[in-house]
Amino acid sequence: MRLILLFYLVFYTFLAGVFCLTMYVMLLTLDDYQPTWQDRLATPGMMIRPKGDALEIVYRRDKTESWDSYVQVLNNFLAPYNDSQQAMNNDACVPDQFFIQEDSGEVRNNPKRSCQFNRTVLDQCSGLKDHTYGYQEGQPCVLIKLNRVIGMKPGKNGQSPYVICGAKKEDADSIGEIMYFPPNGTFNLMYYPYYGKKAQARTTSHSRIPNLSLSLSMCVNYSQPLVAVKFMNISFNTDVNVECKINSNTITEFSERDKFAGRVSFKLRIDTE
Ligand SMILES: *[C@@H]1O[C@H](CO)[C@@H](O)[C@H](O)[C@H]1NC(C)=O
Ligand SMILES: *[C@@H]1O[C@H](CO)[C@@H](O)[C@H](O)[C@H]1NC(C)=O
Ligand SMILES: *[C@@H]1O[C@H](CO)[C@@H](O)[C@H](O)[C@H]1NC(C)=O
Ligand SMILES: *[C@@H]1O[C@H](CO)[C@@H](O)[C@H](O)[C@H]1NC(C)=O
Ligand SMILES: *[C@@H]1O[C@H](CO)[C@@H](O)[C@H](O)[C@H]1NC(C)=O
Ligand SMILES: *[C@@H]1O[C@H](CO)[C@@H](O)[C@H](O)[C@H]1NC(C)=O
Repeated sequence: MRLILLFYLVFYTFLAGVFCLTMYVMLLTLDDYQPTWQDRLATPGMMIRPKGDALEIVYRRDKTESWDSYVQVLNNFLAPYNDSQQAMNNDACVPDQFFIQEDSGEVRNNPKRSCQFNRTVLDQCSGLKDHTYGYQEGQPCVLIKLNRVIGMKPGKNGQSPYVICGAKKEDADSIGEIMYFPPNGTFNLMYYPYYGKKAQARTTSHSRIPNLSLSLSMCVNYSQPLVAVKFMNISFNTDVNVECKINSNTITEFSERDKFAGRVSFKLRIDTE
């Protein structure tokens, strides 16, 4: 009986030891700053703001309360982009080229700096001149962002990727003219590559305490570049299914594994009475 107990004690201690050793070796191979595996994200996803539950923007033009929440979402989302904030936190970078901040060997060049994306760049969709972002006039603005992919360089030869929006076939006549801000709907190359939350944070710490990720994310100065699209003459009282795509000379348009990569679709409907 004693022998059996002893056996199990030794046996389980041994198993625990093997487990710890494996874990330790695994952790050694992980890079703090860059995920080891992220190939699924080679083509980034896109998202819109404001975004309802089902990627729908539906409202009645004459009912303030039906679009006011969209305006609030945009106000909150764009607050960190105020020019004064950007000037305080971020660098004025050289446009149309990547903002490369390499590490030299083992020495981390951290924290990484981030580039200014001024709210005023969004012009008619900045919410500064037109406080309702066009919702009141029935010419709403929708913001588009690319999901962050660490290390991605979307574009080459100084050509920035750009957003292009259109209607699904049956709605082609109802979408009307679309304006893009910044002009041509480009995501300037200077906002890439993104080095990750940890590298781009204001303070770097080497602790792995969960609480840290929260505090770090609030200190990150990186402002994702945005493209605003404004629907100038969209038909009222009808559903318009819009699809926006990213166009770039390095991002493949159709990813075989994920047909939602590099594009976002949403429904827009403005009722008048
Ligand atoms: C940003 O600017 C808007 C409009 O001028 C202002 O209402 C808002 O309080 C500002 N937000 C911050 C965080 O500075
Ligand atoms: C952003 O706005 C600030 C304040 O007006 C200005 O100093 C800065 O040059 C602007 N940055 C860019 C990239 O336009
Ligand atoms: C972040 O912004 C703060 C000012 O709010 C600035 O002191 C700091 O240097 C910035 N850090 C980085 C990495 O850009
Ligand atoms: C927009 O695109 C056109 C044609 O491709 C180009 O001539 C123009 O310089 C671009 N404008 C900006 C601000 O990049
Ligand atoms: C997170 O850490 C800060 C100190 O950096 C501490 O004041 C705070 O109470 C912690 N929050 C939680 C939820 O542990
Ligand atoms: C707006 O769209 C309607 C069709 O929906 C068209 O008849 C009209 O000419 C357009 N107006 C402008 C200014 O493009």
